Amino acid sequence: MKKPKIFIACDTTSLKKIKKIIKETQNSKLIFGYKFGLQFLNSKNGRKFISSLKDKIIFGDYKLADIPNTCASAIKAVRDLRFNYITIHISSGLKAIKATKKVAGRTKIVGVTILTSLDNKSLKEIGFNREVKKLVLYQARLASKAKLDAIVCSPQEIKIVKKVFKKEIITPGIRLSGDSKGDQKRVMTPKQAFENGATSVVMGRSLIKKGNIKKNIQKLIRELK
Ligand code: C5P
Repeated sequence: MKKPKIFIACDTTSLKKIKKIIKETQNSKLIFGYKFGLQFLNSKNGRKFISSLKDKIIFGDYKLADIPNTCASAIKAVRDLRFNYITIHISSGLKAIKATKKVAGRTKIVGVTILTSLDNKSLKEIGFNREVKKLVLYQARLASKAKLDAIVCSPQEIKIVKKVFKKEIITPGIRLSGDSKGDQKRVMTPKQAFENGATSVVMGRSLIKKGNIKKNIQKLIRELK
């Protein structure tokens, strides 16, 4: 069996905590990638630290959402960091996602669909009349059209996405059994996500909470069995 691939969300501004995450994820049973989001990317030490990383899978969760020219320029501006993955909201439109793909070089461009913190009620509040599943399907079609390398969706939409998008499916909204959802709405356990066809999962709080990373990883390994 292939080793499960986990993107650990390095959601902190503390370099000390990030170093601890990296140290404690050296585990031979799993493949770890390191996902840096807006918190760390915008922190004082963020960029410099990421540029020092060697031989790691690094994921820049920029969640770009802007006009095509700005999105493409942003990708070019971080080329020196050699990200393996960078995210853009598919809701930026077909032209914007295509523009990023064009300048990405070896970096995989990941299209983010409807955030896992939203449900049908929250979509109505923003004025979207379709339900989550339908919107995600539309967005997966666009990702396919733009030849994106991966998609981010909740594990609840993997089966829908798979019908139209044939590359990597990365799912946040993951909780070890018994953990609280927090601000997430559309969640599953890692085992359920992989069983549904996720190629990798994103895990933050379930793994880094209370600094018990090693213990949480052992729980993850047990749950995946
Ligand atoms: O702590 P938790 O596991 O909920 O963290 C999820 C991570 O995945 C966060 O870093 C969040 O920014 C990111 N993410 C998400 N939903 C998306 C895309 C990214 O939760 N649709």
